[in-house]
Amino acid sequence: MRIDIITVLPEMIEGFFNCSIMKRAQDKGLAEIHIHNLRDYTEDKYRRVDDYPFGGFAGMVMKIEPIERCINALKAERDYDEVIFTTPDGEQFNQPMANSLSLAQNLIILCGHFKGIDYRILITKEISIGDYVLTGGELAAAVMADAIVRIIPGVISDEQSALSDSFQDNLLAAPVYTRPADYKGWKVPDILLSGHEAKIKEWELQQSLERTKKLRPDLLED
Ligand code: ADE
Repeated sequence: MRIDIITVLPEMIEGFFNCSIMKRAQDKGLAEIHIHNLRDYTEDKYRRVDDYPFGGFAGMVMKIEPIERCINALKAERDYDEVIFTTPDGEQFNQPMANSLSLAQNLIILCGHFKGIDYRILITKEISIGDYVLTGGELAAAVMADAIVRIIPGVISDEQSALSDSFQDNLLAAPVYTRPADYKGWKVPDILLSGHEAKIKEWELQQSLERTKKLRPDLLED
């Protein structure tokens, strides 16, 4: 899959995609991440990407011309499944959305700034990563791309681990433990050392339900 991220602050996210699992996914050819500097698509001396809003509203608006030029240049090369705009006003990003976007071939993510974009720009999805306002959409784009790329088959070596994540079945994951089995008298639950697979599965489900009931009861309402 390919993700094209359009931003006025490429340096803010370049490092993120150049390390750990995101880098490995690209090195293995499982994901291509391309970051585009929106200012490269301006044509004026000052490389302006924003302007005053019509109507006398406060704040600045992302101009249509550089965004359209950038998106058209990308679309001239290939078809895109979605053109996503990151905004706190958008639909809330969640695991089912990440799952479905990970099936896409090509995605554009436009990082929002200022008061938003000129509304004539053709966006297919407006997505928020939560009910709080960030200084710009770059972190939101990085969060979404990370959640989408990590579930592409082969990106995480132990595929089962992506499938057993919290939220994959609307339940939080069960707690996990590692060695030592007894640390200063704090013991790992006996069942996990029993080797009894069926009983361990049963324990895992029960723990998932308990943790979800306690921490995220809203997930159980579905
Ligand atoms: N830009 C600013 N805040 C945001 C948010 N919560 N989600 C997505 N984009 C944003």
